[in-house]
Parts: sequence; C-alpha cells; structure tokens
Amino acid sequence: MDVTLMSAPPESTPLHTVSILGATGYTGREVLRLLIDHPHLEVIHVTSRRQAGTPVADVHPELFGRTDLVLSAKEPEAAAEADLLVSCLPHGVSGAAVASALAASPELRAVDLSGDFRIPPNEYEQAYGRAHPAPDVASEAIYGLPELFRERIAGARLVANPGCYPTAALLALAPLAKSRLLTGATVDAKSGLSGAGANPGPATHFANANENVTAYAPFAHRHAPEMQTHLAAAGADVPVLFVPHLVPMDRGILASAYAELAATTDADALQKIYRDAYAHEPFLRLVGPDRLPATKAVTGTNFADLAVVPAPGGARALVLCAIDNLVKGAAGQAVQNLNLLAGRPETEGLVHRRVAVEVSP
Ligand SMILES: NC(=O)c1ccc[n+]([C@@H]2O[C@H](COP(=O)([O-])OP(=O)(O)OC[C@H]3O[C@@H](n4cnc5c(N)ncnc54)[C@H](OP(=O)(O)O)[C@@H]3O)[C@@H](O)[C@H]2O)c1
Repeated sequence: MDVTLMSAPPESTPLHTVSILGATGYTGREVLRLLIDHPHLEVIHVTSRRQAGTPVADVHPELFGRTDLVLSAKEPEAAAEADLLVSCLPHGVSGAAVASALAASPELRAVDLSGDFRIPPNEYEQAYGRAHPAPDVASEAIYGLPELFRERIAGARLVANPGCYPTAALLALAPLAKSRLLTGATVDAKSGLSGAGANPGPATHFANANENVTAYAPFAHRHAPEMQTHLAAAGADVPVLFVPHLVPMDRGILASAYAELAATTDADALQKIYRDAYAHEPFLRLVGPDRLPATKAVTGTNFADLAVVPAPGGARALVLCAIDNLVKGAAGQAVQNLNLLAGRPETEGLVHRRVAVEVSP
C-alpha cells in the first residue's frame, strides 16, 4: 500500500478522535473520506454489522492507500474510546446505538445522521410509524443546521444532523421566516438515488429509476414535519407542503420552494433579505439571476447554492436551493457540526473541498 497518500498531522497537533458507526454505507463513506484529510479530527474506529474484519478501503476502493482502518462490530467499545461519535446507521437502529454510547461514555459527544432525534418523540412516532428508540435522550438533541443554530450546537452533547431534503428546504425558506414575510410554502424537491442509501429497493432499481422521474409520498414524507418544526424555530410557524421526487442521477437535490408572502415584495428587496441573512456564510452561495442553482455545481462539495425570484402578479416567490445530498445534506454538514463540538473552525476540512463523486461501496 502506498502510505505516502495517508495524511498525518504534525505531532504537536491536538487531535479529537472520532468513531463512525455504519461506515460501509454512503454517508459513512463520505464522513470517512472528509475526515481522512481533516487536520484535527482523527477517525479511530469504523463499524459494520456485516463486514467486521474487512479493511474499510476494501469496501470503499477509492479510499485505497488513504487509510488502514479495519471495520469492527464493536460499537460500544468504539464509542467509549473516542471523543466524538458519528452515527450513519438507519433510523431506529441509530437512536438506540447513540443513546447507549452516550450512557456508557459521559464525555462523548455525538452527531446522529439518522432522523431519530430531529423531531420530538410524539411527532416521530407519527411520522416514522414506530416507537421512538431513545425518548429519554431525545430532549437533549440540538438540531444541527449550523447556519441557523450554530450557537446552540457548539454546547451540545447530541446533535441531530438534518435530513437532506430539510437542509435544502430550510436554507431556502429561513430568511423569509426570519423576516416575518413567510405565510406558507410548497416545497417540490428532486433527489438523486443515493438519498435512499446503499441498498437498492424496487423504486431505486436501475430498470425502474433509469430514464424515469417519479414523485413519492406526496404531502406524507417523514421529512415534512422536520421542515415544519424547524421553520417554526426559525421564525415562521406556517403550513409547509412537501412533495419529493426521485430523478435518475447519483447524487444531488434541487429544491424548488414556492413561498407565500405577507406582502408583495420586489426582486431587490428579496435579494437584500437573502444577502443580509447569508452574506457571511462560507457554504451558502447566492447565485442568479443569470445562473440558477444546479446540482452539478455543488456535487461533491459542502456548498448550497440559492436563488430567489419574485413571482409575477402577487405576494409569492420561488426560492431554489441545490445541494449534494451526501455532503451538505449529510456528511459535510456532520463535519461542520463535529468542528463546532470540537471547538474547531466550522469550515476546517471542508472549505472548497470537492470530494470524488462515486457512490458505489
Ligand atoms: N443517503 C443520504 O443522502 C442521507 C442524507 C442524510 C441523512 N441520511 C441518513 O443517514 C443514515 C445513513 O444513510 P446511508 O444513506 O449512508 O445508508 P446506507 O448506505 O444504507 O448505510 C447504512 C449503514 O448502517 C449499517 N447498519 C447497521 N445496522 C443496520 C441495520 N440494522 N440495517 C441496515 N443497515 C445497518 C450498514 O452497514 P452494515 O450492513 O455493514 O452493518 C451501513 O453501514 C440514515 O439514517 C439516513 O436516513 C442519509
């Protein structure tokens, strides 16, 4: 193996150690890929139920020569030895694993990528159709959208990393919510297939997904209450309708948010609202009117590209937001949150980094 590719920080650098639960999946792979190059966070454990004992670079060949880590099934031990935990497990499984890790290691701080801690347990049971896996710790969770809640994230023990669709929808609508202009919204969003994880189902089977675009779970997707809850926290407790679509691409989300406004607002006023809200955000780029957000422009990056366009003839506006679901919608945002928990600059290991874009483990 060519060890010269492996990154080694200077010996004097204080490191925070990290465990990744569920490192064989799409988001686990992305977190590992980003952290391999991080100057102050060092991954010491990667776990898998099914592939324990296998070098993680055998599962993710693009990491060959970049890490010697071997997958382990020992989740509690992994958590106990690390400073920080990132869980990339499915919902239900993840909440239980994170709760037991936090119980076993009082100093541990965790970022959970699943939906288990993003909404209160009573809403969770309705949206996810199952009992909450860890209601006792749920009240501790801070919603990890740094651009809206970074002060609260920095002091948290448990961070609920946002869902990919809610990341795009909330970034699109939050400035209007904060400015008290938003009275309601309809979010129409298109996602690449990696949003469904590494195990294909009938809807993501190549023969069904290729050359095909479909809506699914209209007005009933489990990300809708997450959008509603955190838009209210951002300043607008208003109805949000959400319709997701699958499109035949590997990765990326384009959210088209149709916002209803309290008053007719022109293009200059809308631009000012977004500039005031996001001008200093390192990962948010206001584009348009000449170039509108597009998934390819953000692929493999932690950027969210946004544009706001007033609708003719009334108090409505279209806000577009493009993200990479696996980076700003998952792993990159998790690294932002890890940086905040570790007291590191939020952009460390992320700025202008464009990661390779393969999706297959
Ligand atoms: N994909 C996205 O765009 C995205 C975006 C935001 C958030 N998320 C959330 O992030 C989490 C991970 O998503 P993902 O797309 O990375 O999923 P994935 O590709 O299916 O990976 C799931 C990981 O969990 C492990 N695992 C452990 N116990 C499991 C169980 N009982 N059933 C299934 N897998 C189990 C799997 O590894 P072994 O089988 O080797 O144990 C695998 O490493 C999910 O909660 C998802 O909702 C995903």
